[in-house]
Amino acid sequence: MTADDSTNPSADHLIVTIDGPAGSGKSTLARQLAARLGLDFLDTGAMYRGVAAKAIERGIDIPNEPYYVTELARNCPLRFDWATDPPRLYARGADVTDRLRDRDVTDAVSDVAAIGGVRQVLVQEQRCIGREHPRLVTEGRDQGSIVFPEAEVKFYLDASSAVRAQRRADQLREMGKPVQLDAIRKNIIDRDRKDSTRPDGPLICPDHAIKIDTSDMPLDAVLDLLENNVRVKVGMRV
Ligand code: DC
Repeated sequence: MTADDSTNPSADHLIVTIDGPAGSGKSTLARQLAARLGLDFLDTGAMYRGVAAKAIERGIDIPNEPYYVTELARNCPLRFDWATDPPRLYARGADVTDRLRDRDVTDAVSDVAAIGGVRQVLVQEQRCIGREHPRLVTEGRDQGSIVFPEAEVKFYLDASSAVRAQRRADQLREMGKPVQLDAIRKNIIDRDRKDSTRPDGPLICPDHAIKIDTSDMPLDAVLDLLENNVRVKVGMRV
């Protein structure tokens, strides 16, 4: 897809991007915003996590074998089941959704996301999803900057690392996963550093993005703000 493909001003086409660091509320907000606006929802972090889960399963030494991780990403296509909410993720036919938030996957995923070859593969897959689902709320680190630079509406969400760690802990608790707040905070800070300093698709606030600090806002209030901004910007198209 060329950048221009994403600016087609028709009712059938509306890409909303939400970027930001781990725990800024992106996933929850993107999913709820998509539901409110009647758009599909894409969690691109799940795709990097899916590759990480598969690489662990194959015993690949991720930081030292980027070539094999890239080959795996190329040969092990990811598919979402769009009939489920949120869409479940399949890698070569196997449902990997329940692995995505496991500790070993979370620890490995920044190294996977730092591999240029993996990013190239997943960026192409995300643009392909954008063509198949042209009314989309998509969230990640590079959605407004690299994947859909001409998206109609772009948001950048941020929050303090303490608030973000607490949110991640709450999310894990809800899923019945073990929670150690200190370890989560360290992991978040470490991932922020890796995500912002990598040469390919680093976490940045995209040009023309609406920036919102969600530290002191209930997520419902942020959701209203996002929805209002989209409705004001694109009017009748939602
Ligand atoms: O949003 P998340 O925590 O599920 O993201 C998992 C990892 O993938 C995180 O290290 C950032 C990375 N990521 C990325 O580099 N680009 C994206 N578009 C989405 C996620």
